[in-house]
Amino acid sequence: MRRAVCPGSFDPITNGHLDIIERASKLYDVVHVAVAVNRSKQSMFSVEERIALIEETTARYGNIEVESHSGLLVDFCRERGIPAIIKGLRAVSDFDYELQMAQMNHGLSGVETLFVPTSPTYSFLSSSLVKEVAGYGGDVSHLLPEVVHRRLVERIAERRAAE
Ligand code: PNS
Repeated sequence: MRRAVCPGSFDPITNGHLDIIERASKLYDVVHVAVAVNRSKQSMFSVEERIALIEETTARYGNIEVESHSGLLVDFCRERGIPAIIKGLRAVSDFDYELQMAQMNHGLSGVETLFVPTSPTYSFLSSSLVKEVAGYGGDVSHLLPEVVHRRLVERIAERRAAE
């Protein structure tokens, strides 16, 4: 079985993430989606909620396994026999940090990182921008799967009501 991992915070999953996961799913037998348990970041959705949304929106690809992880990504890979990390590159600005992580991960474990150029449609897209725009009432429905958009709008309303 040829395996790869798509890691990230996925808070929440966007159409940009889905594009990368779908393309990875065509290249590998099994694609693991590793949802990082943020130690410092305040997240909009719990890890369980993020996993449920990823499972629901990637089910149609048929070869996706979604799990959380809290340690080093290379340990996640080693434990599951995964030789490759797939990362989407949106713009040159992503490259600096991604290169550092790729070199560190390779040095630590020999795990390779493969960069996939993001579709131009999503080159500006990030979960944090989506949350910011939605928080101010902007329309982000074209950037998220329908179920994710619905949950995001609900969550923002819940937070506002609790203020
Ligand atoms: O969606 P994000 O927040 O940009 O994802 C970053 C992520 C989760 C892929 C990266 O922070 C990561 O791999 N973290 C796991 C901990 C780890 O292995 N750190 C060392 C990286 S060289």
